[in-house]
Amino acid sequence: MTRPSQPRQRPGRQRLGVIFGGRSVEHEVSVVSARGVMREADPERFEVVPFGITRHGAWLTPDETRARLARVEAGETRSLGEDAGAGVFATPDVTALLREMDAVFPIVHGTFGEDGTLQGLLEMAELPYVGSGVAASAAGMDKALMRAVFAAHGVPQTAYLVLADEETRAPSSDTIRRIEQELGYPCFVKPANGGSSIGVARAGSREDFGEALAGAARYDRKVLVEAAVTGREVECAVLGNHAPEPSPLGEIRPTTTFYDYDAKYLDDSAELIVPAQVDPESAERVRALAVRAYRALDCAGLARVDFFLEPGGDVKCIEVNTLPGFTPISMYPRLWQEAGLSYRDLISRLVDLAFERFEEVRSHA
Ligand SMILES: Nc1ncnc2c1ncn2[C@@H]1O[C@H](COP(=O)(O)OP(=O)(O)O)[C@@H](O)[C@H]1O
Ligand SMILES: [Mg+2]
Repeated sequence: MTRPSQPRQRPGRQRLGVIFGGRSVEHEVSVVSARGVMREADPERFEVVPFGITRHGAWLTPDETRARLARVEAGETRSLGEDAGAGVFATPDVTALLREMDAVFPIVHGTFGEDGTLQGLLEMAELPYVGSGVAASAAGMDKALMRAVFAAHGVPQTAYLVLADEETRAPSSDTIRRIEQELGYPCFVKPANGGSSIGVARAGSREDFGEALAGAARYDRKVLVEAAVTGREVECAVLGNHAPEPSPLGEIRPTTTFYDYDAKYLDDSAELIVPAQVDPESAERVRALAVRAYRALDCAGLARVDFFLEPGGDVKCIEVNTLPGFTPISMYPRLWQEAGLSYRDLISRLVDLAFERFEEVRSHA
């Protein structure tokens, strides 16, 4: 196997490609996160080069991206446009310019970004990139796979069942019986490959369940059904490769029944409390479990691990987000600020970790 023998870092400033936008429902959030990174990345160290992906998947050159961003800055739009594309290789200028980067920060949430596809592309391009590799990204995106990994590594979680294909369209009476006996109502119903609470519903009865299942099945062929947890929703930011560190905790206080899409992006109704007002012993347990979940999935760089802290003191891990929201006011950077690491230094640290992981993968090739 041949790999470039020269280290990629050039003298002078490092070229940091920021890939953002993309085909998921979190397109606009990604644009806000990327603008934060572009504005705040240390100008002494980085020359930031933007690579936008439109809502329908067209890759834009840095010049085109800057032109679209100017419209966002002017308040005319919040997205990079609707143009359809034929994939990254359809725009040779983009591939040629991407190859010039020293490192890449992919800030594309959801499918075709957070799920290992973009990471695979960057591996094939032999580019150091921020965040988890292909396997961790893919497992973090698929809640059915993620829960199986949790189970194998002793990460405490809610009781759940996975329904697939025909069972999501017409669950058998046996499945209904198991849901009612093993999980009970209310239960939570979610598409396995989701994010931003899209397709997530709380079902309080058998009738509700039918509706919730039909809703979730629109987004995926696999659906997760979970026992509902009560308690406080707390989150931990984890940073690192081999020796991942947990941040202080933050708490989400939704004003609706749960932290749904509207609360996340539309009405901003949920309160983010940093640091979470949790007793030190529980906080320590959650932090240790965050690191355990991170290692279980073999994450790299960063991930936000979300939990419920139940009234009796039990902790349940809900999910690992391998590319958490990264606007300057998002939970992940806020938790590190609380620990004394600024947004700017966090970006630098993530790029250091990207180089570290790249060298390590290379040393095993
Ligand atoms: N088992 C559960 N019990 C209670 N609330 C839940 C449960 N699962 C999810 N929720 C609520 O739904 C939200 C979205 O669920 P989550 O699994 O995090 O999906 P997503 O990947 O879309 O963020 C959570 O932030 C939480 O408020
Ligand atoms: Mg979530």
